[in-house]
Amino acid sequence: MTPPRPQDAPSCAAPPGITDLPSDWSSLWLQMLQAASSSHATPLLTHSADSGWALGGICSARSAALFDLYKPLLDARTAPLAAPWVVAQLGQSLDGFVATATGDSYYVNGAHCLLHLHRLRALCDAVIVGAGTVAIDNPQLTTRRVPGPQPMRVVLDPAARLDGQSRVFRDGQAPSLWVCDARHAHQARLRLGDLKAPHTTEVLAVDGLLDATGASRPERAVAALGQRGLRLLFVEGGGMTVSRFFKAGALDRLHLVVAPVLIGNGRRGLQVPAHDVMADCPRPRARTLALGEDMLWDLALRSHGPQ
Ligand SMILES: NC(=O)c1ccc[n+]([C@@H]2O[C@H](COP(=O)([O-])OP(=O)(O)OC[C@H]3O[C@@H](n4cnc5c(N)ncnc54)[C@H](OP(=O)(O)O)[C@@H]3O)[C@@H](O)[C@H]2O)c1
Repeated sequence: MTPPRPQDAPSCAAPPGITDLPSDWSSLWLQMLQAASSSHATPLLTHSADSGWALGGICSARSAALFDLYKPLLDARTAPLAAPWVVAQLGQSLDGFVATATGDSYYVNGAHCLLHLHRLRALCDAVIVGAGTVAIDNPQLTTRRVPGPQPMRVVLDPAARLDGQSRVFRDGQAPSLWVCDARHAHQARLRLGDLKAPHTTEVLAVDGLLDATGASRPERAVAALGQRGLRLLFVEGGGMTVSRFFKAGALDRLHLVVAPVLIGNGRRGLQVPAHDVMADCPRPRARTLALGEDMLWDLALRSHGPQ
């Protein structure tokens, strides 16, 4: 992972809108980053082969709850993984939308959720978004709100529908991968042209990212990113991309953050395959954590490997 550049290094101080971060959180967060990069115990964190990372010192209840939320990522980083470990998050309204019909999503979720997103980015090797999110939001996908390393920025655009002018491809703040089906990668390279940014953007051509019917196969992207040495993947949105990963069984964990807002109609949040019988509906192991006014549902989607 690329270390944060000095001029970008954010302070641990709580950002505006966040008043309930305990005073011991900054130190614990920095030790979690240390554990993630070195796999060595720290004054507050211990590790054992049986139970992974654990708090070895006394912390406030809120810091301990935040540690529990990120522990699966620390455990996955230390585990000998045969394939990448994938966490997704989706912030949606009570009625299941991530944005209005015009694409306005500022802001479905509150400041705590934004901070949570940047923490997930900092703990992972790659942050992945769908082409729709890049087209509408033009995001930077950096870790500017928290201290921590910058992951690879990955845009999933199987049919190469983007024009190559988005910030993530051209701002030079961090390396980026534009992931396309092999049949469309040439088109993406032409649109990118010569880049003079300090960090390069590369088009990653993936065989079979689109199947014969034109449906995308996220598991192919996961495998291709794994071959590039990217082991911890964070799928940040939007709704279609997270739902496609879910449907393909490509997620280890999902953070579904529900905001107390009603949108009525718009861009859909999580969509899952339908079932006729209640008994057949998946009921993943779940726990909750309040993020300001929002409620995070932490869903464990696999029964094996690091939880
Ligand atoms: N609340 C959150 O957690 C969160 C997170 C991220 C984004 N968002 C919001 O989610 C919305 C986007 O999500 P989404 O589900 O629509 O898409 P998405 O998952 O980001 O991307 C996949 C979809 O975008 C389509 N697409 C590809 N290129 C496009 C282009 N140039 N213009 C428009 N669409 C294009 C894709 O088409 P193909 O079928 O060809 O692949 C696919 O249907 C945005 O409004 C964003 O603000 C919310």
